[in-house]
Amino acid sequence: MAPRPDTAATDADAARPARATSLTAYPDGPVVLRGPFRLVDAAGVEVGTHRRAVALCRCGHSRLGPLCDGTHRSIGFRAPGGPPQAVGPRVTVPLCAEDG
Ligand code: FES
Repeated sequence: MAPRPDTAATDADAARPARATSLTAYPDGPVVLRGPFRLVDAAGVEVGTHRRAVALCRCGHSRLGPLCDGTHRSIGFRAPGGPPQAVGPRVTVPLCAEDG
């Protein structure tokens, strides 16, 4: 099976310096994780993704949790944004607000 175009390593990729992993909170929306990462759920089960960036739900209403599906817009979720934060190789992100 041929590698997916978005994940295939090339000589140019090998020559690039390693990118840092960062989290960026978007106003009234998700937290975007960029860079090399491995995503696992609260039970430690890996959430399969071949992307280099993912939008993580922080409103607690996504049907695709832990990924954002855009529901935050229809429920009027409000939260501040912020500049990108560099994170280390392991980070725990509280993704969803508790109900009640
Ligand atoms: S932040 Fe987008 S669906 Fe929750």
